[in-house]
Amino acid sequence: MCGIVAYTGKQAALPILINGLKRLEYRGYDSAGIALTSESETKVYKAKGKVANLVELLAGQEDSLLLKESTCGIAHTRWATHGSPTQENAHPHASPENQIVLVHNGIIENHNQLRAKLKADGYEFLSETDTEVLVHLVDSFYDDDIYDAVIRALKQIEGTYGIACFAKNQPGKLIVARRGSPIVIGMGDQEAIVASDASAIINYTRQAVYLDDNDIAIVQGGDIEIRTLDDSLVTRQASEIDWSPDAAEKGGYEHYMLKEIFEQPEAIRNAIRGRIDVNAGNAVLSGLSLAPRELVDLQRLVVVGCGTSLNAGLVGQFATEDFAGIPASVEQAAEFRYRNPIVGSRDLVLAISQSGETADTLAAVREAQQKGALVAGLVNVVGSTIARETGQGVYLHAGPEISVASTKAFTCQVSVLLMVALKFARAHRMSHERGKRFAEEILAIPELVERVLAKNDEIARVAESFVKYEKAFFIGRGYLYPVAMEGALKLKEISYIHAEGYHAAELKHGPIALLEESMPVVALLNDGPGKDKTLGNVYECKARNATVLGIITEGDEEAKQAVDHYIEVPDAPLHTAVVPATVALQLFSYHVARLRGCPIDQPRNLAKSVTVE
Ligand code: AGP
Repeated sequence: MCGIVAYTGKQAALPILINGLKRLEYRGYDSAGIALTSESETKVYKAKGKVANLVELLAGQEDSLLLKESTCGIAHTRWATHGSPTQENAHPHASPENQIVLVHNGIIENHNQLRAKLKADGYEFLSETDTEVLVHLVDSFYDDDIYDAVIRALKQIEGTYGIACFAKNQPGKLIVARRGSPIVIGMGDQEAIVASDASAIINYTRQAVYLDDNDIAIVQGGDIEIRTLDDSLVTRQASEIDWSPDAAEKGGYEHYMLKEIFEQPEAIRNAIRGRIDVNAGNAVLSGLSLAPRELVDLQRLVVVGCGTSLNAGLVGQFATEDFAGIPASVEQAAEFRYRNPIVGSRDLVLAISQSGETADTLAAVREAQQKGALVAGLVNVVGSTIARETGQGVYLHAGPEISVASTKAFTCQVSVLLMVALKFARAHRMSHERGKRFAEEILAIPELVERVLAKNDEIARVAESFVKYEKAFFIGRGYLYPVAMEGALKLKEISYIHAEGYHAAELKHGPIALLEESMPVVALLNDGPGKDKTLGNVYECKARNATVLGIITEGDEEAKQAVDHYIEVPDAPLHTAVVPATVALQLFSYHVARLRGCPIDQPRNLAKSVTVE
């Protein structure tokens, strides 16, 4: 989810590029860089950290004619996926003598193979990034035609990209291309500004051309020529951007939370990409360097985390026991770190953390390491403390999660935990055939989410009936118990309604005393084992005048009759049905909070990352 800005035209490029980077900084902010070119010189400037650090670096070069006069350049603000957030790993990346300079958003899956080949051809690598592979690949084909070199290089790329690049000896000509990572081109009078999203261009023009996947465009001044990877000329209609600048940073959504909810199909595809081998019926988690022999030796999975990450861990526990047949447990990180836990060399301790900076989870990591356990991270922020201190694990690739309420991180965590369970299961008793089916079930998750997102307006209408309440129960069983916990957490943290999640069977052990008309109940009633018992709980709630919202499987007439309101979600095996059911509750909570006028992205008292005990 990096930010790309590029400009070519009649104005000085630097201020346009810097302003564009500032607009995109929410997309990724661990490092930033700019490359400017002119007839006489080409230079690359990079800085770790926020865009302000890059601006400070450039301020020290104010005598440079290039900075003042260059009318063509590219810029990038990074969200690290391969390689820690360092200056060397920052974009733009350049080939020898700055012959080719390039910025990239996306993930190149076959970067290792390409890197080996380029090294054999004599290229030296200065960074750990997959992007540097691409710039040297373009260079290897370059023969004074940057378009030809780029198209030949892209044909060898597996994975996703949004790129902008230029050749030193063809100043003014930009080549931009996309596959899976958005690229938009703003057209002006004898100038063009390219970006990874519209927020960087609307201050200059509202006429935008969005590239399609496998498009490649030659942009020079106000001229644009778009071709496909098979070199066919195509026309893409320009569209009018009608967002406000503030709305543009949120991709046109009212809040980052809604934007991140709607990013989930793409985020989950990124989390899964390159990690499922359907033919082998297994997961390929290269960051979790565990051979089958080692997996067989591990006798237990212990998951540690906090908040939403802890709720995701519950799904991982259930799936690992269910499919791999090995013991698994989930520990609240603060509890784990102080309880003198019994873990050792035969245990895999998996620390789940979106930020990778949560103090209690970090302390749990250190405690587990002290006790000789094998410790790995399941983290979203590349290069974060937990990622570095565990030294191995699986990055979520969910992209920056700005809103305090965690949404896409949760669904990506669950998707990765299902892949971990698959890996364990196939090292134990799961058959090849069942492994293939499990792999297909995981691959089907993004489409399940898309079907729930399509019900956003319907869910908003259901939410209207719950705005008036000040308390609520969420109940579920089995795999749906973590969904009840996560749904309650979402509602409480953004709407301030006192929502509590319970195992449905727990109601009779106390909570049922609170049931009355003013205590609505959200019941997870997806088809599967346990549904009938939860339906029984629903009748108990109804008998005490509680209003019930059911999350039900599409077409379940029995469940529809039992509840007062319902949200239908696609039918799926319960271990994957967790995700669409959670997305339904994310949207439900979002609309209740929106209707209550709450400051959704920054709820009171909360921080995005709890870096203190
Ligand atoms: C969830 O919406 C909250 N933002 C919070 O519970 C969060 O999940 C928790 O603080 C853990 O954060 P982490 O995943 O960054 O470690």
